[in-house]
Amino acid sequence: MTHSRYDLSASETEPEPDGLDMPALARLVFGHAAFQYLHAACELGLIRLLSRHGALGKDAIGTRLGLGERACDILLLGCASLGIVVREGDRYRLAGLVAALVEAGDWDGIENTVAFEGHIAYEGQADFTASLRANSNVGLRRIPGTGRNLYHRLSENPRLEAVFFRYMRSWSEMANHHLVSHVTELAPTRLLDCGGGDAVNAIALATASPDLTVTILEIPQTARIAERRIVEAGLEERIHVHAGDMHAAEFPGGFDVVLFAHQLVIWTMEENTELLRKAFRALRPGGHVVIFNSMSADRGDGPVVAALDSVYFAVLPEEGGMIYRWQQYDTCLTAAGFGAARRLSGVDTPRPDGRGQALTRPDRSVARARIRSVVHTRTGG
Ligand SMILES: C[S@@+](CC[C@H](N)C(=O)[O-])C[C@H]1O[C@@H](n2cnc3c(N)ncnc32)[C@H](O)[C@@H]1O
Repeated sequence: MTHSRYDLSASETEPEPDGLDMPALARLVFGHAAFQYLHAACELGLIRLLSRHGALGKDAIGTRLGLGERACDILLLGCASLGIVVREGDRYRLAGLVAALVEAGDWDGIENTVAFEGHIAYEGQADFTASLRANSNVGLRRIPGTGRNLYHRLSENPRLEAVFFRYMRSWSEMANHHLVSHVTELAPTRLLDCGGGDAVNAIALATASPDLTVTILEIPQTARIAERRIVEAGLEERIHVHAGDMHAAEFPGGFDVVLFAHQLVIWTMEENTELLRKAFRALRPGGHVVIFNSMSADRGDGPVVAALDSVYFAVLPEEGGMIYRWQQYDTCLTAAGFGAARRLSGVDTPRPDGRGQALTRPDRSVARARIRSVVHTRTGG
């Protein structure tokens, strides 16, 4: 009798020439469970506990987290085997990367991202196959409410809204120093931030450039969040919020820069082209459009975070959207009247999506950046 090669519980198999061996296949089959260990480690406070105490034994961990013995065994089995924690003797400590992220103050952003994945993205992803079949965001049915897309439903779900904007702020802050440095080089005095969220980028840009005024175009439900943040930052003289629908009306005009941050991953390429046409008309001659979000390789085979992030855009926010290829943006830009674009990239910090590049052109130019992946972000959002 011959042994089957197809054993998903095998810890080692012969290497395969193209890289996908049985342990790698098992990680795909059970990938959802791996995420749940990370999610539970965050929500139950295991990461915080070990960051405070260095290393603890199983009983101390169970007592401090309020877990029964079996539950604690399961949590530690998963976290240790996945490398989130390391077992040394009879004690458990954080993996070096996790400890370094906590030490650097970067772990909150990871936890905010994990919470978004766990409470929002995960829900809709059960409808991934159905969404591909329908070529539409079938997963939206799992978010309670009547709003026409995810953004309109957030205000109907205050807990999800808080999870979303904590994540979106963290996600944007992980990479917006690239945005600030590229935009500052363009020396704008008037910038339109389309779908500016809670004003995270507008505040960073206005803080870096004292002569800059920013107009944020946002749906009314989110505009109120942005207004609160702007007041907290003391920037209400220089950042104004225009409540409206970017698809419905012409943009206000006379800007040096029109920014789409983590925005042109939500819509179809036809909608993106229409938005870029409006941006073109809203720019003064010589102005620039900046597209800042994750982008996938022109070959269509990576990076892996672009692929993973595309599941969220396929199932939840709106009918269109994905982490598009650079070339697809080039096509939209040309159709909207822009000339040659400049690709810029920036990838230097650990974060859950995949970040980095941009574009510009001499008449009205384009800069865009894609998000790089931590071990996930999406632009995100
Ligand atoms: C992925 S978030 C990005 C937020 C922000 N630009 C950032 O980078 O953090 C997308 C934002 O677009 C806004 N949005 C969605 N549809 C919109 C529309 N039709 N008009 C204006 N804003 C819209 C959402 O409310 C949300 O804040």
